[in-house]
Amino acid sequence: MNRIYMDANATTRLDQAVFEAIRPWLLDNFGNASSAHHHGRQSRGAVETARGQVAALLGCGRDEVVFTSGGTEGDNLALFGLARPGDHLITTAIEHHAVLHAAERLQKLGVAVTFLPVGSDCLIDPDDLLRALRPNTRLISVMTANNETGTIQPVEAIGRIAAEADIYFHTDAVQAAGKLAIDANRIGCDLLAIAAHKMHGPQGVGALCVRRGTPLEPLFFGGGHERQRRAGTENVAGIVGLGKAAELAAAFAGAPSHPSSGLRGLSALRDRLERGILERVEDCGVNAGAAPRVPNTTNLWFDQLDGEALFIALDLKGLAVSGGSACASGAAEPSHVLTAMGLPKDRARASLRFSLAKDATVDEVETAIELVAASVGRLRKISPAFA
Ligand SMILES: Cc1ncc(COP(=O)(O)O)c(C=O)c1O
Repeated sequence: MNRIYMDANATTRLDQAVFEAIRPWLLDNFGNASSAHHHGRQSRGAVETARGQVAALLGCGRDEVVFTSGGTEGDNLALFGLARPGDHLITTAIEHHAVLHAAERLQKLGVAVTFLPVGSDCLIDPDDLLRALRPNTRLISVMTANNETGTIQPVEAIGRIAAEADIYFHTDAVQAAGKLAIDANRIGCDLLAIAAHKMHGPQGVGALCVRRGTPLEPLFFGGGHERQRRAGTENVAGIVGLGKAAELAAAFAGAPSHPSSGLRGLSALRDRLERGILERVEDCGVNAGAAPRVPNTTNLWFDQLDGEALFIALDLKGLAVSGGSACASGAAEPSHVLTAMGLPKDRARASLRFSLAKDATVDEVETAIELVAASVGRLRKISPAFA
């Protein structure tokens, strides 16, 4: 069976060039980047090259890049590194759990937290943010792009509000890297998290951009790695992979250092997929379809259908997508993002996310349209609700 992968927002295939870059750092060059001898200096050089590649992708200084184990650590480091009991944190109802659950934990530790709502377009209203500001607001954390709907938040407007109010601003850009040109200066953020595996790099490595002068407390205590901001021997091979992936992402998505962009082709493919499904399938639509979105993501609802059944039917036919429910303790809970947008639970459960990787093809898109149309038709025929 020819399998089609349309779940790039979950993770992406390692790019061959990234693999080639990593290979020697797993086999031949094994030095600890903190060692002063030849082997250590070799690893240090590789880590610093990667730091430059990540800085070029994000438009920040090399000294502002802190390597992490991925998006979750970057988000946690940002939130726990800045917020203290008695502070106020503003975030949104549609953040990834890496932010949402960290914010809930901070709440238990005495940080007041405001979760901004979103409209049916999955966007926050900057006026709501202005109204939520308090004298003790220490940090604003709003994601650049949402992992489920792909919507792009007005991060530059948020950056201006934060700067004017003299409040720190963190953005989770895990779903933006490789899909949008990111420029930390333009966004005006103090902290920005990315993960390598969402942009054809290895899993388990990422970076947090920490702008100069941001008083971040570390999460880990140990050696003085990463300028005292992240103790622990560096994951040299992973960091080399992140660096190479960042270089490729900058070339594909554009970056302050690299203005070209291959994103137009990707959004044309996404639009073709969306149009094809909407034309072939009745009673379906796009969640947040009118909002600005990253070019690879579409989130579709299918009425009178069990979304999990469609997810399984497509997987059996070789098409991997993502469901609108998160299976928590055996119960399929509808997505917190879709319910925050005001979708009824049934529609949220009957929504699927299709997220294309940069190597998606027209043939794959056409096959996916056929598979979705056929599977929805078959399931609705046997569903009593649609009889
Ligand atoms: C928006 C967003 N933030 C954070 C994360 C967590 O990243 P990681 O899996 O690298 O820990 C993800 C992963 O899906 C994500 O989509």
